[in-house]
Amino acid sequence: MSGKRVPTYTTTNGNPVKDPLASQRIGKHGPLLLQDFALIDLLAHFDRERIPERVVHAKGSGAYGEFEVTDDITDLNCADFLSKIGKKTKTFTRFSTVGGEKGSADAARDPRGFATKFYTDEGNIDWVYNNTPVFFIRDPSKFPVFIHTQKRNPETNLKDATMMWDYIANNQECCHQIMVLFSDRGTPANYRQMNGYSGHTYKWIKKDGSFNYVQIHMKTDQGIKNLTNDEAVALSGTNPDHAQEDLFNSIKSGSFPSWTCYVQVCTPEQAEKLKWSVFDLTKVWPHDQFPLRRFGKLTLNKNVQNYFAETEQAAFSPSNTVPGWETSADPVLQSRLFSYPDTQRHRLGTNFAQIPVNCPYHAHTPYHRDGQMAVNGNSGSLPNYPSSFEPLQYRQDINLHEKHEKWVGEAVAYQWVVGTDGVDFQQPAELWKVLGKTPDQQEHLVYNIAVSLSGARPEVQDKTFGMFDKVDAHFGKLVRDATLQRSPRSKL
Ligand code: NDP
Ligand code: HEM
Repeated sequence: MSGKRVPTYTTTNGNPVKDPLASQRIGKHGPLLLQDFALIDLLAHFDRERIPERVVHAKGSGAYGEFEVTDDITDLNCADFLSKIGKKTKTFTRFSTVGGEKGSADAARDPRGFATKFYTDEGNIDWVYNNTPVFFIRDPSKFPVFIHTQKRNPETNLKDATMMWDYIANNQECCHQIMVLFSDRGTPANYRQMNGYSGHTYKWIKKDGSFNYVQIHMKTDQGIKNLTNDEAVALSGTNPDHAQEDLFNSIKSGSFPSWTCYVQVCTPEQAEKLKWSVFDLTKVWPHDQFPLRRFGKLTLNKNVQNYFAETEQAAFSPSNTVPGWETSADPVLQSRLFSYPDTQRHRLGTNFAQIPVNCPYHAHTPYHRDGQMAVNGNSGSLPNYPSSFEPLQYRQDINLHEKHEKWVGEAVAYQWVVGTDGVDFQQPAELWKVLGKTPDQQEHLVYNIAVSLSGARPEVQDKTFGMFDKVDAHFGKLVRDATLQRSPRSKL
């Protein structure tokens, strides 16, 4: 005997149980007794084990880590967690695929989510980013319908190439992201060997209250590594959890993955002169005009102990931010500020912020009371209103910065359709050229598109060929030829 105390198994209310595998009944084979609370307690809890999976990004993997400031950035940002070189902040990161269900394959062609919660002294800030620098939409109301086309057909319950490409061909502002997605970066080899990008424009506030627009890039220190389409398809069958396994085992073996963090800065004056809107999520900021400036490193160094408690219950939102780091007027970002806490109230309950993985160090919210699962003492006997007898401090230095941007206009229902700024296909064309600099990358893009597009109806294929023609006529022809080779029209 080791002398280690063996815990006593109990019911949920702490009563010791004699034999958890025995159930009370009449005789050995007679009906069960309703009084057998241990059995009912076990079954009833089991019946409620599942919570709603995330409506998107359901399959994921998480780990704790640390963010360290590596370079002085205080001329650009006044946030406390960025205030000096060497300052460290504890973090929790969750990687994910987007469209698949909780049990789907890690190797799916899909953007990868890269969400990190920073537990700072001024509350949590979440970077809810992807591994792609751009996105499919710039009108927020398109998100639910776009996502429907990535999921299952309501009638057949099958993934549906026609549905997916029909959406793409008719909403061509997604062309840039579609090209990233169908390049080999759409099937990263694992979560460690891919970059993270804010995609959106955010605002960094300086000490004097003025601001710049910024975008964040997290570059993998492990080097980019991707799967080919055929490797990804094979891996989906042989090991659907390969990225979870890779991340867990790397951290367990002490090989801690890290990302170097950079900021791109665009002054309000530069933003005025851009050929496209600074709030357009389908565009990148070219490196030569907006160079990357290094400021930190994120390292993942600790696995979760319990997947459900930590990774599944983690709740990230772009609305979680600290003084000095603000959201921009990007309409997709603005909608996300509502959507994440809203879904989390549904997925995890009103008091989801009290779950340890989500809990900030210094929350003090006595005006928020009650609700299901109020487990942190519910602010005890503190006044539940701004009492003159027990006043709280309110931070006077946090402003709405009403002078930053002036919004003037009539209320309109606006859809930001493709072609509005005349440059929607320029950056996709740049990407086509970038891919041409690495062996096989253009060929892989064409092949990867053809494998998928060949499953769509001919009229949808034709409209999609037209979209790629607008990027580059040769690219459009290659896609047409490769797709028709796989789905000859005579056979349809
Ligand atoms: P650059 O030549 O400076 O940048 C090209 C960037 O493309 C690289 O820095 C790299 O981004 C990314 N890239 C390199 N190889 C591949 C590949 N095989 N598959 C996918 N992406 C690759 O030019 P620009 O900044 O003017 O951008 C040109 C185009 O590059 C853009 O239109 C966009 O499509 C793409 N791109 C641009 C990014 C940006 O923020 N400017 C970021 C990513 C892609 P990274 O260093 O981030 O890995
Ligand atoms: C997850 C909505 C755009 C990155 C989610 C979730 C919702 C959602 C409801 C599930 C959250 C949860 O259950 O906790 C939306 C809407 C969008 C949008 C409405 C546009 C209008 C984006 C964009 C990005 C992004 C542009 C990246 C730049 C993520 C990530 C997750 C996520 C990384 C997973 C977070 C996690 O690991 O828990 N999104 N999203 N989303 N989204 Fe979005």
